[in-house]
Amino acid sequence: MGLMGQIREYQTPKGAVALWWFGQNGYILKSAEGTLAGVDLYLTDSCAAAYPEVDLHRKIPALIEPEDLELDIFACTHNHQDHTDPETIGRLRNKDTFRFLGPAPSCTVYRQQHVEEGRITTTYPDFQGEFADLRVTGTFALPTDDSDLNHMGFVFQFGKGPKIYVTGDTDYHELLSATRKHEPDVMITCINGGYNNLSHWEAAKLAAEIKPKVAIPCHYDLFPDNCCDPKQFRAALTVAAPSVLYQEMTYGEPLLVSLA
Ligand SMILES: [Fe+2]
Repeated sequence: MGLMGQIREYQTPKGAVALWWFGQNGYILKSAEGTLAGVDLYLTDSCAAAYPEVDLHRKIPALIEPEDLELDIFACTHNHQDHTDPETIGRLRNKDTFRFLGPAPSCTVYRQQHVEEGRITTTYPDFQGEFADLRVTGTFALPTDDSDLNHMGFVFQFGKGPKIYVTGDTDYHELLSATRKHEPDVMITCINGGYNNLSHWEAAKLAAEIKPKVAIPCHYDLFPDNCCDPKQFRAALTVAAPSVLYQEMTYGEPLLVSLA
């Protein structure tokens, strides 16, 4: 059975959320009710051809083919190709049943890839929306360059379960700490420092301000020309945010997060 089949069969216990990582900023979240939400799923190698001046050939294979994705919610944090990937979106076989979320430039890509208008919801910092048992809150993110000035992050919460904060790509800014008011239990954060993203030290500083129970590093692994060692983040957390637990994820394996 492929990974999508395994995810569909997986039973998330009540009050918990299960997470799967697909490299870079790509995750699938599953609730006890069976709702499936994906964020920033980059499941092709399209960046390699789009940016030949740097080495952006993916280092790990796409664990699910876009055609096989079965989700309820497909969200993107901003319109960079490693997050909103026209090829991934264009190849979705089941897009007639998904709800698509993202800032306006990502919504333009959805439309270009023939997603029905009625399936698209434009999101923004401080957005609030409910989709089945999933509550989605938009958070602030600072653009990393002027190729897209509409970055954002998300807090996802199923029912009264744990709140999962995904920073998205962001430069450091004191306003990021405003996400503290949503009291996320888990913070999934970029740590690579490259292309003006949070460095491992800035991500640890942000964790100290936001005070999640757990911090998960991402966006350090997929492209040869944009990699770093997540252990730098672990060390930085130890110094800057010692009460925050470091959690590294393994591709294709569920991580169960519960409030207990
Ligand atoms: Fe990125």
